[in-house]
Amino acid sequence: MSIFDEVVDRNNSNSLKYDTARYRGIPDDVLPMWVADMDFKAPQPVLDRLDEKVRHGIFGYSDSDDRYFNAIKNWYADRFSWSVKPEWLVKTPGVVFAIGIAIRALTNPGQAVMIQQPVYAPFSGMVKKNKRQLIVNQLAYHNQTYQIDLDDFEKQIIRHQVKLFVLCNPHNPVGRVWTKEELTAMGEICVRHGVYICSDEIHQDFVYAGHKHEVLAQLSEPLAQQTLTCTAPSKTFNLAGLQVSNIFISNSHIRQKFKNELRASGYGLLSVMGLIACETAYEQGQAWLDELLVYLAGTISWLNTYLSQHIPQIRMIQPEGTYLLWLDCSQLGLSAVELDQFMLSKAGLWLSAGTSFGQGGKGFQRMNIGCPRSMVQKAAQQLSEAVRSLS
Ligand SMILES: Cc1ncc(COP(=O)(O)O)c(C=O)c1O
Repeated sequence: MSIFDEVVDRNNSNSLKYDTARYRGIPDDVLPMWVADMDFKAPQPVLDRLDEKVRHGIFGYSDSDDRYFNAIKNWYADRFSWSVKPEWLVKTPGVVFAIGIAIRALTNPGQAVMIQQPVYAPFSGMVKKNKRQLIVNQLAYHNQTYQIDLDDFEKQIIRHQVKLFVLCNPHNPVGRVWTKEELTAMGEICVRHGVYICSDEIHQDFVYAGHKHEVLAQLSEPLAQQTLTCTAPSKTFNLAGLQVSNIFISNSHIRQKFKNELRASGYGLLSVMGLIACETAYEQGQAWLDELLVYLAGTISWLNTYLSQHIPQIRMIQPEGTYLLWLDCSQLGLSAVELDQFMLSKAGLWLSAGTSFGQGGKGFQRMNIGCPRSMVQKAAQQLSEAVRSLS
């Protein structure tokens, strides 16, 4: 029995994942496996520290100190051999927020920003909402794996005079952990053409055996000078509701532009609960995370076997990282709308629609397995019965 087997009732807990079904027109009894948070309690030391703060009882304006920075610094040094400096750090209430700030700080309306679809939907949303031109370097899908089309990557940059590239590494939803070679190749092209890179590394801590997360900014000094690295404890320790992320920008000119835009947004200080949770998680969360990674790998292995034995029509793209599984359901022969409806009404599963990730998402669904294995098992059985009912 693992601590992650505990089923915690999230109903009526202000949970986006669980409590918003009705107003989104979703049936009540579906299993929510969509938005990327987990159904696990945060590490105990984090809960204890938050408890202590509640008992202290004062929640005035708050800021971080050396202890906060040292906790993050040590995490990066231990896990990724990356050495970060205090002046590089800019705190924001979220990574999507930081991407929006980066777009406004580093590009003008109408200028081109490139992403790689299928990808986490807010990437395109931030580009379009900020009235920049959306350029897509489509990921190439062959034999159930995804590769970067580097020729197209450079051509798009040249043709559209791309100013900023928003990278997702590890990649949500296709589960790739880009290799040093792939990152270096993309990085060199960006350096050659003076393209800034906003590297969203929020899933960096979820990497499975045989793969390694490379911090893009660490690969070369010229690359570091053009890159903003977006990190957060929110996915790693399930703290998304506490709204804290840490953006590292080593180039002082870019950092100043980013800070100016941040100030213009009116945002100042993070929430005190977010600050202390982040600090404690990075200080004391190593063992919890290591156990979680083993648990998630076990769930993926169980589901792999189950799908091949019971639902061979649905193929899981083998995840190298993240707790989000990208399922190729194209063999079911359903249209995008039919597939979404099938998952909700027939299988009783609330997943993320493949089409929400942009080009290349048709025929796919994303399943969040950051939950007790018993829930994944129930979901798989429901899915198997639903697929059988199609024939
Ligand atoms: C790639 C990626 N970036 C950013 C986020 C959201 O980050 P935040 O809640 O800090 O805005 C997610 C959440 O799913 C994500 O998958």
